[in-house]
Amino acid sequence: MTDQKASQDNTHFGFEQVKVDEKQAKVADVFHSVASKYDIMNDLMSGGIHRIWKRLTIEQSGVRRGNTVLDIAGGTGDLTMRFSRLVGSEGKVVLADINDSMLKVGRDRLMDRGITGNVEFVQANAEALPFPDNTFDCITIAFGLRNVTYKEKALASMARVLKPGGKVMVLEFSKTNNPLLTKAYDIYSFNLLPKIGKLIAGDEDSYRYLAESIRMHPDQETLKGMMEDAGLTQCKFQNMTGGVVALHTGIKP
Ligand SMILES: C[S@@+](CC[C@H](N)C(=O)[O-])C[C@H]1O[C@@H](n2cnc3c(N)ncnc32)[C@H](O)[C@@H]1O
Repeated sequence: MTDQKASQDNTHFGFEQVKVDEKQAKVADVFHSVASKYDIMNDLMSGGIHRIWKRLTIEQSGVRRGNTVLDIAGGTGDLTMRFSRLVGSEGKVVLADINDSMLKVGRDRLMDRGITGNVEFVQANAEALPFPDNTFDCITIAFGLRNVTYKEKALASMARVLKPGGKVMVLEFSKTNNPLLTKAYDIYSFNLLPKIGKLIAGDEDSYRYLAESIRMHPDQETLKGMMEDAGLTQCKFQNMTGGVVALHTGIKP
């Protein structure tokens, strides 16, 4: 969904058409509902593979000691935890998320693991990041952009707060490139996934939304073009697990 399309009256919430100003609240309901079971569901739904996708993201971030990192839509803090170790005490990681339930689970989880010194928690909308221009060496948004109403605004906001030479990384579900895999993936996500959601998180609808929102998200080439339009250069993507997920990166000139 482009800003131009979203600025007309309706946008999508999964396969449902909703008023643009209703989408954010509906997304909020999803994450308030799943927050406490979010981590266990991630492991169950992906068979643990999300850990590999995230590890590859960290490996390609180029983040070093002393860097300043923004993990927007950071949720329960998987990437933040890893970045915190990489940047060390001279660096800083900001875990930002629009949803206070997800932030609370993230904050508690990091505190339980003794990760506090170099991490800051901020409630913020990716579309209007509350940071000065040229602040961060690296910005990640993992499985978050899909949920944002105005994706172009979010990408532009990320480009603004990134330092020149810094990197934006978008880890997100994407389009599979193999018909057999696509069929199996469809059967899994539209039939099995909502049932697992019902059983474990007591919430079938949120996991149906997850499957639908993935199908509505821009494909690899479209998202790459959107990142270029936001002013990023050297934009490229890498498919993982046959395109189930793609990691897009771009550099601020
Ligand atoms: C699927 S979770 C991803 C969490 C974490 N990044 C991970 O990979 O496990 C998506 C997160 O995006 C957040 N989110 C949704 N819309 C957002 C927005 N407009 N701005 C910031 N965060 C948003 C949700 O609250 C949720 O925590």
